[in-house]
Amino acid sequence: MTKKDLASSPWARHLWDTVGVVVGAQWGDEGKGKFVSDVAPYMDVFVRSQGGPNSGHTVMVNGKRYAFHQVPSGAAFRKPSVMTAGMVVNPNLLYGEMQQVDDPSVVVIDSRTAIITKAHRALDGYGETNGTTIGTTRQGMGPAYESKANRRELITVADLLDRQRLAEKVANYVHAHQTQLLEMGEAEKRIAEERKKQGMQPIEILSPTDGIDEYCESIVAELFDAGQKLAHHVVGDTSVMLQKSVNDGNRILVEGAQGILLDRDVGTVPYVTSSRTTAGATLADAGLSRYADRENGFWGIIKAYATRVGGGPFPTELENSAGEKLRKAGVEFGTTTGRPRRTGWFDAVATAYAVRVGEIRTGYLTKIDVLSSVGNPMICVAYLVDGKITTEFPTDARVLKRAKPLLEPMGAVGKINRHDTVMAGRRKGFGALPAGSRRYVERVESLLAEISGVSDFEIAAVSIGPWKGQTVVKI
Ligand code: GDP
Ligand code: IMO
Ligand code: MG
Repeated sequence: MTKKDLASSPWARHLWDTVGVVVGAQWGDEGKGKFVSDVAPYMDVFVRSQGGPNSGHTVMVNGKRYAFHQVPSGAAFRKPSVMTAGMVVNPNLLYGEMQQVDDPSVVVIDSRTAIITKAHRALDGYGETNGTTIGTTRQGMGPAYESKANRRELITVADLLDRQRLAEKVANYVHAHQTQLLEMGEAEKRIAEERKKQGMQPIEILSPTDGIDEYCESIVAELFDAGQKLAHHVVGDTSVMLQKSVNDGNRILVEGAQGILLDRDVGTVPYVTSSRTTAGATLADAGLSRYADRENGFWGIIKAYATRVGGGPFPTELENSAGEKLRKAGVEFGTTTGRPRRTGWFDAVATAYAVRVGEIRTGYLTKIDVLSSVGNPMICVAYLVDGKITTEFPTDARVLKRAKPLLEPMGAVGKINRHDTVMAGRRKGFGALPAGSRRYVERVESLLAEISGVSDFEIAAVSIGPWKGQTVVKI
């Protein structure tokens, strides 16, 4: 795809010149893939720098729907797509994922990126059944980031290419976690037999059921095979190529995964993911902090209502027919796990916290069209915590669990005719939206600026459908 001229587009006022980062500003699934599809024509290079197969980013373009988990969403647009060492990857899934794009050769991966093995996935399941239930995606994220952090158990992309070294590293990891893996193996065996008796679909066995040596060998064989297929995508140091690329005048999009409220350090701990998800951390993991456009390069994707997958406090959650309506109209089912997403009203307190702590300046509001099917949507403008009204986001998950949302009725957002709104939007910007939607966007913007203290925060575009271009840009 050739690069479109930005100067003649309504995006010109809003997009960055050098490097920009886009992250989710809630609990994930805000529509990061949709944003990437809109701005891809103006970009030269795409980057993913954290997370891994736990994410699912949807790109819908030219009649085709892509689900990206590890590969940057920009790969759908046949442009260089770089995966940096900050990620953790499942190599088999990665190879499969690359095959959905027309030209997989655009994808490169840093040789130091950590590998998720079947054993990491088994131990993710073990943690969920024998400790705090976080509701993880069971993709092995936590255990793989643990291996990275403890260094001694780290297996990298480079290790995949050397069979002997790989065998040593796999044996090292499996032996270190042998007791839990064998326990998990027994449990999986029982579940598999039970399911067989009941004529149910078999489950994928992730733990050792026939001895540790055979288990290690099966992991090595699988990983070595994947490594051979990925070998020509592996590069030594992605930060060299990215920094050179900026210096050559290219425009780069760094695509975050999950959402700021799932950040390992400043999210709703411990109900979070195992990597950092703020804009600053995501840029740093790409080696591009210094190159980011300070004015226009810090984007947060914000859903017009709230969703969350897995456990953890969710003050505006609707466990009633209104929540069910949102789930149905917004097709809120996990891109990675298929789990129904929990749904609720837009939470200005939580999102404003994410804007400030996650270093967002520009917002891209998605799925306002979904609200037209729920009558009178509400917005949470403050919390009542232990008898006190506050707009401060509690940092303790137990306190957040007690927070009661104070809700402001917003009135109907109006019916949005996508085609007509997009057409009129080219001339009128947000003026093309129904009055109710405009009011909603303005209220979200002013609440976020006010509560976060980020006084120059603005919503620069509003997404009104899942397909590329179903968007109104502020003029
Ligand atoms: P991501 O993880 O942030 O990329 O988001 P997901 O792809 O997991 O989930 C967002 C879902 O909403 C996807 O199915 C998108 O196709 C869809 N979507 C994105 N923006 C809009 C929008 O403005 N309106 C509607 N109706 N759907 C949208
Ligand atoms: P994208 O990039 C929504 C959630 C899981 C769980 C918690 C920890 O599509 O927005 P993990 O497997 O990471 O250890 O799970 O984080 N989670 C996501 N929720 N969207 C995602 O990614 C998510 N990635 C992880 O549901 O609650
Ligand atoms: Mg997603």
